[in-house]
Amino acid sequence: MLHGDVGLELAARVAAAVKSSLDLDITPAEALIRPSSRPGADYQCNAAMGLGKKVGRPPREVAAAIVGALDGTDLIVEPEIAGPGFINLTLTDTWLTTQMEGLFSDPRLGVEKTEHPRRIAIDYSSPNVAKEMHVGHVRSTIIGDALVRLLRFHGDEVIPHNHLGDWGTPFGMLIEHLIDQGFNAEHSISDLNGFYQEARKKFDADPDFAERARLRVVKLQSGDEETLRLWNELVDESMRHFMKVYQMLGIGLTPEDNYGESFYNPFLADTVDELEQKGLTEISDGAVCVFPKGFFNRDGDPLPLIIRKSDGGYGYMSTDLATVRYWTGERGATDLLYVVGTPQSQHFAMVFAASRDAGWLTPDHNAVHVNFGSILGEDGKMFRTRSGDTIKLIDLLDEAIHRAAALVQERSELDEADQAKVARAVGIGAIKYADLSSDREKDYVFSWEKMLATDGNTAAYLQYANARTLSIIRKSGQTPQPGTPVILAEKAERDLALQLIQLPAAVQSAIDGYTPHKLATYLFDTATAFTAFFEKCPVLKAESDELRASRLVLCALTSKVLTMGLDLLGIEAPTRL
Ligand code: ARG
Repeated sequence: MLHGDVGLELAARVAAAVKSSLDLDITPAEALIRPSSRPGADYQCNAAMGLGKKVGRPPREVAAAIVGALDGTDLIVEPEIAGPGFINLTLTDTWLTTQMEGLFSDPRLGVEKTEHPRRIAIDYSSPNVAKEMHVGHVRSTIIGDALVRLLRFHGDEVIPHNHLGDWGTPFGMLIEHLIDQGFNAEHSISDLNGFYQEARKKFDADPDFAERARLRVVKLQSGDEETLRLWNELVDESMRHFMKVYQMLGIGLTPEDNYGESFYNPFLADTVDELEQKGLTEISDGAVCVFPKGFFNRDGDPLPLIIRKSDGGYGYMSTDLATVRYWTGERGATDLLYVVGTPQSQHFAMVFAASRDAGWLTPDHNAVHVNFGSILGEDGKMFRTRSGDTIKLIDLLDEAIHRAAALVQERSELDEADQAKVARAVGIGAIKYADLSSDREKDYVFSWEKMLATDGNTAAYLQYANARTLSIIRKSGQTPQPGTPVILAEKAERDLALQLIQLPAAVQSAIDGYTPHKLATYLFDTATAFTAFFEKCPVLKAESDELRASRLVLCALTSKVLTMGLDLLGIEAPTRL
């Protein structure tokens, strides 16, 4: 039988042993099962120390009681007690080989679907109309897409939504500028940042223009047809630009996923009314505000969420309150994820607090600001071009593919057309993996050299490892068959097997913390275990046919795990490189 997650299986058995020997109920998590770094032990159980304190008995005695009651003959070699009461657990080779054989015929590679699917609305990418995406949007796009893939695979219902910045006062000046340019959006905003800056400059320098821009905002907000048409042109043209980026990155977002700020406009008045009716609002300096408990500025004054400005307008904060109300209310989402940079932490904390007060978030809901740090240049400062400009994303992606092409050409025997495909996979993979392999909450340094290295924790290393496993299989002229007995004779073989069965745990921990890097680390460890195996254990020249067949199965399984893992991160794994 295939066990999804061996750690959980061990935990369940330890929990049962605790129950029968000590008559205590503990959860699987409280069994404190951890992969072990001690030679000879695969896992260890650290529960006896805490339980000893609880029942007032020496931990070693408690450990002995647990071991005595442990049902593990099929799974674990004689458990050992070490130090103050650690229980060392070593999996039997029989069990491990059965797992290898089970994994081989399981399309989900041991990862079980959740029995409690959630409906998850995830806000990611969310760039601003008539502006270039900046690196913050890139991170949001890449991390958000990986989370969508992971959660869908987990069995949740996932609704992506792109919170485009497509509304508000800047659109007055942008539309007026478009009119001055002769209405041709495609022509005028091909250079998005340029268009925005020109409009801004005119707005600051020319009072007539500024006045026109202000009137235009009023027209936009009152639904004037001509104004809406122009506004639509700006949105569509920007969207065409964003779609190009999404396609290059292999991101599934489409215009159907657009739920921009404008989408919530019709709900804003009701949102504010509801807050007022519930007695949650106060007037402060003429603006309607909510003061969620526990938020203060530096002087110790309570911080407001401004939900209607003194001029009657609504802003970013009101819109985000409306997002919570809409997704939990109209759409029945149980989970709300906002993949947005760390600088907006306080904003989301306040929005969530106010939404709880308003009853839009209940204890059954799970609202999370999936925050992330910045991308830094190699000088440790904000990532910019040498001349100090913001970097254009399209240029960055082009450069990645270009650099990858040079790398692939150096090493590859593929023909030109295939090389180009592979270069795209390696280049885009490098950018995405550099982002996904680092803890999202930390800043990371953008370095071409590091991200395109074929050694180390990079996409290229994983892609090459995968291509190598497949090339060995091709060279063998054999197709590994399900039911092939797996032999774990060498330590490197056993280490690889132990690594391969941990995919379910890695996927789960990536999901639990919305931390794709946990999966990336696992994939890197797997590729490393494969490299060690490959160095120690000849495959094609194995001593016997049985050993050769078994090792081919390990190669095939490694490829399956790497390919699936990379796919869950949104990264391609070419079969040849
Ligand atoms: N457009 C915003 C920005 O560029 C990000 C929006 C994030 N999502 C949200 N619901 N506030 O900063």
